[in-house]
Amino acid sequence: MKYKTQKIAYYFFAAAMLLLTLQMVYGFIMLFARIGMDGLHDWIPFNVARTTHINLLVVWLLTGFMGSAYYVIPEESGRELYAPRLAILQLVSWLLVGVVAVAGFHFGWWEGRKFLEIPRPLDYLVVVNILLFLYIIGMTIWKGEKHSTTQLVLYFGLFTAALLYLPGMIWFDNQTLDSFYRWWVVHLWVEGVWELIMGSLLAFLLIKLTGVDREVVEKWLYVVVGLTFLSGILGTGHHYYWIGTPGYWLMIGGIFSALEPLAFLAMAIWAINMYRRKGRNHPNKIALYWTLGCAVMSFVGAGFLGFAHTWPAVNKWTHGTLITAMHGHLAFWGAYAMLVFAVISYIMPNMTGRNLMNNMTGYLAFWFSNIGMVGMTGAFAVSGIAQVYLERKLGMDFLAVQKEIVVHFYGAMLAASLFAVGILMFIYTFIRYGQPSDEMVGQDMQDDATEMGASA
Ligand code: HEM
Ligand code: HEM
Ligand SMILES: [Fe+2]
Repeated sequence: MKYKTQKIAYYFFAAAMLLLTLQMVYGFIMLFARIGMDGLHDWIPFNVARTTHINLLVVWLLTGFMGSAYYVIPEESGRELYAPRLAILQLVSWLLVGVVAVAGFHFGWWEGRKFLEIPRPLDYLVVVNILLFLYIIGMTIWKGEKHSTTQLVLYFGLFTAALLYLPGMIWFDNQTLDSFYRWWVVHLWVEGVWELIMGSLLAFLLIKLTGVDREVVEKWLYVVVGLTFLSGILGTGHHYYWIGTPGYWLMIGGIFSALEPLAFLAMAIWAINMYRRKGRNHPNKIALYWTLGCAVMSFVGAGFLGFAHTWPAVNKWTHGTLITAMHGHLAFWGAYAMLVFAVISYIMPNMTGRNLMNNMTGYLAFWFSNIGMVGMTGAFAVSGIAQVYLERKLGMDFLAVQKEIVVHFYGAMLAASLFAVGILMFIYTFIRYGQPSDEMVGQDMQDDATEMGASA
């Protein structure tokens, strides 16, 4: 690493790994409940487990993005992080809010709006925390010696993500209006501004790992940003089909959301292209695996599987079924979880000075987690298709259908176990890397040759 303060990223990553482990525990609690082993029901009923599972997901991904920013922004700005002590305070307070929120869910302290369950008083604390985060990285850029497109797109993505949290905090008595603005957060995050975070971190990784000229890599970033906004903003309409909004949303949502896969396709082509044009063989193969894997799997999970149910004529059957869970898993995994894993894999050797870059455990972690996640996605897909036919075509009762599809959750359990083994192997490698070392300041384990073409 170039700067001492970059090591703050490590503590964010460690926290993210801990929260991911907890997220998986709640996933298993739900799967066991699904197959009838619901012994925890009195303490952690299904809805509590589900809420905790998806909120932990959002919190650990954001923690991973913050860690990534604390590493990438100083490097791209050519200076130490501004106010590093505040960054530690920001992490601690962020985790504190997260822990209180998750604990609160178990006592019924929540808002009951999927993904935005965190109660209002805690929302205000989240806002303060994020402002602090944006201040620290904003000042680092402001006082920096150089500026890059990558860094500005990253900042813009993080800034707009914070801004878009606010519509979710407006109070409405009307269910339709509440739902309408909930999607400004949920949809415009994952199919809008988070894609900017993804694009910019991919740019950073591709510059480092392929050695292709920064100018070439960053040109693609403009294409990705353009395609994202072109399709993603009005694509929000694919959530406005059946919530009481005007009928024109069927057309607008259908057309624009059908274009959304283009941004993910562009990222996949971009990553593969940069890899093929690579000027050198980078030693960190595993980081390359995660980077290319992220670009490809996000297209499969978000682009392809999102497209599969985005047209109104399909969505009227699949809406709110396990088809949604199928897509939700592979999309979040491919686009954002694998992204954080790619950044961690690239950064760890630089921060610790240890070389576990071509370690068998690391490769197995990649394959086990990916094959496991694809298997889980498949199990959700099959159970979802069965659910749609039985419940919505044949008109069977909701709960009667849930019983019919239990068999698929045994399959999901197998796949989830493989996935969990993969994740634990990744975390084991992370732990083996150890803590960041001050001796690594000013050094780059993975060399500086990749910096050629860097814009001043
Ligand atoms: C051991 C691993 C995991 C297990 C066993 C698991 C299991 C589950 C289950 C059973 C549900 C509820 C589905 C239903 O309504 O019946 C669920 C929901 C969800 N999980 Fe997981 N999960 C795991 C890991 C993950 C990971 C790593 C991610 C993201 C990268 C993720 C993202 C989600 C999302 C987004 C939902 C909500 C889906 C929707 O909107 O319908 N899960 N998970
Ligand atoms: C990385 C990007 C993406 C992620 C993380 C993601 C994740 C999710 C999640 C978690 C849900 C459930 C939301 C909820 O019910 O609150 C959802 C719903 C949906 N997504 Fe995505 N998605 C992504 C991209 C896309 C794309 C590109 C498309 C279309 C091409 C798409 C189409 C849909 C549709 C139609 C629904 C509504 C499902 C329903 O009616 O129940 N998604 N997505
Ligand atoms: Fe969406």
